Amino acid sequence: MTRQMHLCAFLMATGHHVASWRHPDVPLENGTNFGYWADLAQTCERAKLDALFLYDGAAISNVDIESMSRTDRATFFDPMTLLPALAVVTDRIGLVSTSSTSYDQPYYVARRYLSLDHLSGGRVAWNMVTGVNPREAVNFRAAPMLHADRYARAKEFGQVVLKLWDSWDEDAFVMDKDSGRFFETSGVQALDHVGEHFTCAGPMCVPRSPQGRPVMVQAGGSDAGKDLAAETAEMVYAVQADFEAGRDFYADLKSRMPKYGRDPDTLKIMPGIYTIVGRSEQEAEDKYGELRDLVDERMAMAFLGATLGGADLSAYDPDGPVPTGLTTNAGTTHLKTMVRIAQTRNLSLRELAQDVAAGGYGHWAVRGTASQIADQMQERFEGRAADGFNIMPATLPGGLDDFCTLVVPELRRRGLFRTEYSGRTLRDHLGLAYPERSVAHPPKLVS
Ligand SMILES: Cc1cc2nc3c(=O)[nH]c(=O)nc-3n(C[C@H](O)[C@H](O)[C@H](O)COP(=O)(O)O)c2cc1C
Repeated sequence: MTRQMHLCAFLMATGHHVASWRHPDVPLENGTNFGYWADLAQTCERAKLDALFLYDGAAISNVDIESMSRTDRATFFDPMTLLPALAVVTDRIGLVSTSSTSYDQPYYVARRYLSLDHLSGGRVAWNMVTGVNPREAVNFRAAPMLHADRYARAKEFGQVVLKLWDSWDEDAFVMDKDSGRFFETSGVQALDHVGEHFTCAGPMCVPRSPQGRPVMVQAGGSDAGKDLAAETAEMVYAVQADFEAGRDFYADLKSRMPKYGRDPDTLKIMPGIYTIVGRSEQEAEDKYGELRDLVDERMAMAFLGATLGGADLSAYDPDGPVPTGLTTNAGTTHLKTMVRIAQTRNLSLRELAQDVAAGGYGHWAVRGTASQIADQMQERFEGRAADGFNIMPATLPGGLDDFCTLVVPELRRRGLFRTEYSGRTLRDHLGLAYPERSVAHPPKLVS
């Protein structure tokens, strides 16, 4: 069968444009109105997307409060309260959300995702992030962890979660009323994990997932992030400034997988694509211009600083070049991508800030008609820069409607996207096999 792309929708309350809430077509109070989220999820499912994704962080963004007050982003639900509610109003679509490996515990994360995987019929994925926001640290402990330490903890965190998900055999629960035996003791295994960061005896108190295990997602693009993804991830959200960078990232990440005994096809790389779709090229340009005019300059600079890993840009000339040599202990991927964008397009700091605010934070930004956008997606998909895309509409709900009703049919016409779901679980949608029990988990009776 011809290779088809996977599509995930990255949902934020009013859209991915930093001033989307001000757009006349965007209804207010979207963040806390469940009916609104339910409509978005159902739009995604009607379009037969693979999954929807909800972001998370345990702090408001690392942006000054005056700038923050010009956005709708200071408040957002815990995605693991919203996602279960969305599971009830959908039937097929995959449900992905973030939980941090830096500020949570493997047992809790494993249990939450596995529980929801049962309740949703095997549609869940966990985006394991080390966290980009330095403000998270102050809500838990005094000093932020170093980037390398966060990844060392994440690696062990993921291993413990995987082993917990493998606690039970799928046929452990015999539920034999005659003999009085509910489950076979040989079907459950403890962990007795004692590591550098975690001690966890196990087993998990939830049966094996209907899809074997929830799907593992990773979204860090540093070397450590790519190694972690190569070892454990089945879907990766990537940031791609341009086609060449995307192709390099794709080849690099997939080439790391054999070292961990993994087939590169068992990982789906899904770069973000920030979209403004028009019925004509002019309509898309007009929408872009309307949104750009809504951006407050101070807010744009503050968001650029946060995207560059917390840099204070006030000492630099806004009309001068983007400073090189910035370093960060926060996420490194956005920093590298933004500097690359500024250099290749010769943008001043001010222009880059405008571009970031109006263009998706270094994610690949496209605008135009459905066929123009489909052309570009096809090029990256067939050119092995992507296995699919994480759709980031500029505004919601309109931008998602436009993508689903204009671009998705165009992709279908080209045979690049499914017309129907062929299975029920997220693994089915992604073409991932039911996973074997982890080999690094020797059978052991619980005493
Ligand atoms: C599409 C996408 C979604 C992400 N979602 C989150 C998130 O919900 N919470 C978070 O703290 N970081 C999120 N990240 C950031 C990364 O997962 C990662 O923590 C960050 O990039 C730092 O790691 P790095 O230096 O390896 O890139 C996301 C990144 C991408 C590309």
